[in-house]
Amino acid sequence: MPGTLIGMVGASPQKVAVFGAGYVGLVTGACLASLGHRVIVRDVLADRIEALRRGDVPIYEPGLDELIAGNAERLRFTTDVAEAIEGADIVYIAVGTPPTYSGDADLSAVWTVVDELPQIERRTVVVMKSTVPVGTGEKVRHRLDERGLQHVGYASNPEFTAEGTAIRDFLGPDRIVIGSFRDEDGEAVEALHGGVDGPVVRCDVASAEMIKLAANAALMTRISFINEIANVCEATGADVVRVAEGIGLDRRIGPAFLRAGIGFGGSCFPKDSLALKQLAANSGYHFQLLNAVIEVNELQKRRVIGKLHSHLGPLRGKTVTLLGLAFKPHTDDIREAPSLVLAGRLLAEGADVRSWDPVVDGTALHGVEIADSPEAAAAGADALVLVTEWPQLADVDWVAVGATMRNRLLIDGRNMLDPETLRSAGFVYEGIGRGPGTGGGS
Ligand SMILES: NC(=O)c1ccc[n+]([C@@H]2O[C@H](COP(=O)([O-])OP(=O)(O)OC[C@H]3O[C@@H](n4cnc5c(N)ncnc54)[C@H](O)[C@@H]3O)[C@@H](O)[C@H]2O)c1
Repeated sequence: MPGTLIGMVGASPQKVAVFGAGYVGLVTGACLASLGHRVIVRDVLADRIEALRRGDVPIYEPGLDELIAGNAERLRFTTDVAEAIEGADIVYIAVGTPPTYSGDADLSAVWTVVDELPQIERRTVVVMKSTVPVGTGEKVRHRLDERGLQHVGYASNPEFTAEGTAIRDFLGPDRIVIGSFRDEDGEAVEALHGGVDGPVVRCDVASAEMIKLAANAALMTRISFINEIANVCEATGADVVRVAEGIGLDRRIGPAFLRAGIGFGGSCFPKDSLALKQLAANSGYHFQLLNAVIEVNELQKRRVIGKLHSHLGPLRGKTVTLLGLAFKPHTDDIREAPSLVLAGRLLAEGADVRSWDPVVDGTALHGVEIADSPEAAAAGADALVLVTEWPQLADVDWVAVGATMRNRLLIDGRNMLDPETLRSAGFVYEGIGRGPGTGGGS
């Protein structure tokens, strides 16, 4: 797929600076270069920039290595602000906005970028890609004005790509949202996307900021909704897989994001839900539904521990293997991943924790033994917990794996595997929301 994306010139070429060489900045930079623009990506991490200059891409995102290599003539990397800004028509801000201790978004990296912009003489548009609270654009606008940069435009162009499919999402988006104070700034951002096939939503800056937060909240609400239905299914003997299929066929509902599991994680949903909750609270509004969505998700991650207890009793001295560490397949991102919560809880209960993941370097998980295959991770274990639905797990020989285990128990946290296959391999199988007698229980 990525081979077809290299050098597809669609828009009139512009010079673009991207601040932040993370998941979003690199995908944005590489995709814009593939559209024919001249792009320079700036990061404060010298090691990261050095690696990118050598052709080593510091994150795992399918197709990104090839896209960067294939567009090398239009894509440069620097740590130097002046070099990045020199001649830029558009300046993207794609730095991290992690949560503070209170749950509010930490905008310090955003403010650093705004404050380190030099006295730009030419007409340039600063475009916010980072996810920020509603009202941030207005504050940035004021700051630019205070610094004598009234001629510099400002637009909000939030990112909706999902890790694992980010390049496809960027170049074939469901929509491109562009909020601006002045029409010409929005037009400049829209023109940059020439060659990208997707509807464009043009609006004011505050609405663009809210669209991003509200879209994430809607997706999280669906996940927590189906997870609660799953929990009621467990208590009543229904099978959530069939239930989701049955409700998802209703055109008013649709099938997406109705897969029950052990909760959402990642670098966006958890922090963006907290940021929206705090944004509402700071404005005097108690966002009751969102609070429930967050709480359901926290409890959902921990339900696996209860399932392990019910089969194994106390976990001290038991070996539990986590299959998958990434918050979802096709990424190496473990920020806020359910695996972190599970590993922490299991270690706290005295269990020996092992894990396997095809791309995550698990060294950050202190006390967790890392194996290089699902088979090696499972040998001698008392239980397996499928945490991330990596496609490799569909090809595992469960009969052979079961024969090496001390106890054949598998908790399928993503309802990925066929219960019958596991059961006939001698496993006690338990999914999420698949009560006994529904094909999913033990
Ligand atoms: N990861 C996703 O899939 C995704 C999707 C949609 C939106 N977002 C949002 O996009 C933003 C970026 O997310 P990410 O996952 O790419 O973050 P990231 O942590 O992977 O990357 C951020 C990068 O910005 C760099 N940086 C910090 N200060 C800088 C500065 N002054 N100048 C230049 N670079 C600087 C950091 O060193 C880091 O490399 C966040 O607001 C996030 O919520 C992320």
